[in-house]
Amino acid sequence: MITSSEGLREFVVARRTEGSSIGFVPTMGALHHGHLSLIDVAHENADLVVVSAFVNPLQFDKAEDFDRYPDTRRADEEMCRQRGVQVLYRPNVAEMYPSGFATNVHVGGLSSILEGASRPGHFDGVATVVAKLFNTVDPDVAVFGAKDFQQVAVIRRMVTDLGFRVRIIVAPTVRESDGLAMSSRNVRLDAEARGAATQLSKGLFAARAAFQSGTTNSNTLVDLVADHIGASPLVTADYVHIVDPYTLQPVDIAGPDDVVLVAAIVGGIRLIDNLVLGDDDLPED
Ligand code: PAF
Repeated sequence: MITSSEGLREFVVARRTEGSSIGFVPTMGALHHGHLSLIDVAHENADLVVVSAFVNPLQFDKAEDFDRYPDTRRADEEMCRQRGVQVLYRPNVAEMYPSGFATNVHVGGLSSILEGASRPGHFDGVATVVAKLFNTVDPDVAVFGAKDFQQVAVIRRMVTDLGFRVRIIVAPTVRESDGLAMSSRNVRLDAEARGAATQLSKGLFAARAAFQSGTTNSNTLVDLVADHIGASPLVTADYVHIVDPYTLQPVDIAGPDDVVLVAAIVGGIRLIDNLVLGDDDLPED
């Protein structure tokens, strides 16, 4: 197991000299099936796969969320081994943020809207750690899940603006059989909330079906999602928007590349989900 950035750099340089390309999947550990699909996509696009598992204190707006983040080292290691991951890089906080650390990567605009509005500083923490990981791993491709759509938009903007050479690949959201997007937060839902949580994906699929049958008015599509969410007393919508996939600015008339973003509180747990209106590669339900 490589934990130091020096060890990781040596490994990457040696493999690259042999002609191997490097695929990278950054995670915070607590790996689930959603992560495994990111690893599979990395294998499809590179010769070697490096996974990082670092619970990044900078991106937690609440200290208690950081403190109770699950520690599943053994299971993560086993999952990576089974999935053919060549390196599981697990830096510690002192390695990642040396004493006196004072640099912050802030992606303007995108970081303060939507999720950024309810989690101030979150995307600065994400951008800062991902920039640092990109510098250490120096991957050819990096894979992120479409589930965290705003995170993808922030990272793409950062990669373009700061000139990172990595190619960003977005892997489709993995869903439970009833449509719920996989997330490490789902284990915090009690049985009733778990049932109600399907209203999010039901609303998204309904909006996509309506779009694909010719409805392009954003307000009409947003209302459709809101109706599904409102159908359960356990679900309270935070926002439903139809946005441009790069700027995340709302659109009036929706197109096939535009995305429906939803955030809701379900039984006390905040969940997010999204769907690209023109996509047809996901099950309807
Ligand atoms: O998506 C995550 O798990 C994290 O935000 C990431 C990209 C690993 C940065 O800590």
